[in-house]
Amino acid sequence: MDKTAKIIIDNKTYEFPIVVGAENEKAIDISKLRDETGHITLDAGLANTGTCTSAITYVDGEKGILRYRGYPVEQIAENTTFVEVAYLLIYGELPTRAQLDKFSNSFTEQAMIHEDMKNFFDGYPSTGHPMGILSAMVCSLSAYYPEMQNPEPSKEEIDKIAVELLSKVRTISAFSYKKSIGQPFVYPRPDLKYVPNFLNMLFSSPAREYKIDEDIVSALRTLLILHADHEQNCSTSTVRLVGSSRANLFASISAGICALWGPLHGGANQAVIEMLKEIQRDGGNVKKYVDMAKDKSNAFRLMGFGHRIYKNFDPRAKIIKKQADKILNKLGIHDPLLDIAVKLEEIALKDSYFIERKLYPNVDFYSGIIYKAIGIPVEMFTVMFAIGRMPGWIAHWKEMIETPSLKIGRPRQVYTGQHQRNFIPIEQRR
Ligand code: SDX
Repeated sequence: MDKTAKIIIDNKTYEFPIVVGAENEKAIDISKLRDETGHITLDAGLANTGTCTSAITYVDGEKGILRYRGYPVEQIAENTTFVEVAYLLIYGELPTRAQLDKFSNSFTEQAMIHEDMKNFFDGYPSTGHPMGILSAMVCSLSAYYPEMQNPEPSKEEIDKIAVELLSKVRTISAFSYKKSIGQPFVYPRPDLKYVPNFLNMLFSSPAREYKIDEDIVSALRTLLILHADHEQNCSTSTVRLVGSSRANLFASISAGICALWGPLHGGANQAVIEMLKEIQRDGGNVKKYVDMAKDKSNAFRLMGFGHRIYKNFDPRAKIIKKQADKILNKLGIHDPLLDIAVKLEEIALKDSYFIERKLYPNVDFYSGIIYKAIGIPVEMFTVMFAIGRMPGWIAHWKEMIETPSLKIGRPRQVYTGQHQRNFIPIEQRR
């Protein structure tokens, strides 16, 4: 028998198989735990619990390693386009030239949203957060593509929905930005590739033609690539859990967008800039905020710092920091918020509180500096994260739906409420 784990309960020994992953990670398979022992596990935040096996992304938090389908993220960020990375994550291999051209052309064909969907924007207040709009609009796509609601979609149907989502997420996001600034929508152009098309929809207007800057395209492309997947994070786990009920891909992704919105997750990139602006308004007193983050009686946290998995530098943060320096120099921008961020990092990384807890800058710490330099408003930062994460969500949903004998996700709990008691008619209640 392969290696097993023994658990002794009331002097009885139980054995459970140990599963070893491709990179030698080890897990105890407890799928029969309750049947055999009458016990369940309890693991708030699922910090010690694997909910699936997956072949998409590998993260080693201690060593600061991130690989997409085996390729180190540093090499991927340096040598590929976002569409290429989307193909790799969803289909498992880097595309040939012919496969990439076909995939990329399908994005052009599917970039438009149904004209009726524009009415949705009329109903939204211009102050509506674009993450709420994005989630609602992605879920509403299922109304315009009813054939995609098949609970057991074919390979062709999954391929088609994937392209719809990857392409249309740009259009919906750009339209929500235009709505927020009271400008007319700018439609996708068939002659522009993924990133330039998105930038054009964001920043062109009847008053001025947006001039595509290759340095900005390259910086944004790198950011999207770095956000493309990160194994079982909160939003991806949400997509998998919702999809396990056989909800369609639009509905599953819509739920993932909502999970990403939270400031502890994707919403952190917006919260980092708001924090840096607060420190700037407060005279740049970085040490005061580092001390606040350490003070248990204070709810303040250093946004963009810490990570459930990385107990070393987030490899993405290192690349993004380099990109931030590069794009600001290229654009001739001096952003005082970047100076504050660098100072914050410097002080925190020398402080025992952060060292003991292995808290380092994460993917969200510097990304906002680049979005800001490109001219993207802070409310759109988490939407940028969602656009980047779309390929990962789709890849995980596809991997989940293709799992043989897929089971609906339904965790247990430990009940801590009242014992049985009898009903009290309202007249007798005190
Ligand atoms: C993302 O999972 C992913 O992969 C996510 C992501 C992805 O690509 O999908 O990488 C993207 O979500 C990055 C994280 C963005 N969030 C933030 O930057 C928000 C600030 N960071 C945190 O709140 C926190 O670090 C989390 C949420 C990221 C991780 O929280 P954990 O793993 O639940 O850790 P914890 O809250 O239990 O913290 C452990 C200790 C605690 O102190 P003690 O109780 O041990 O004394 O570290 C402290 C925490 O108080 N701590 C912080 C801190 N983060 C953790 N203290 C101050 N500032 C912080 N940012």
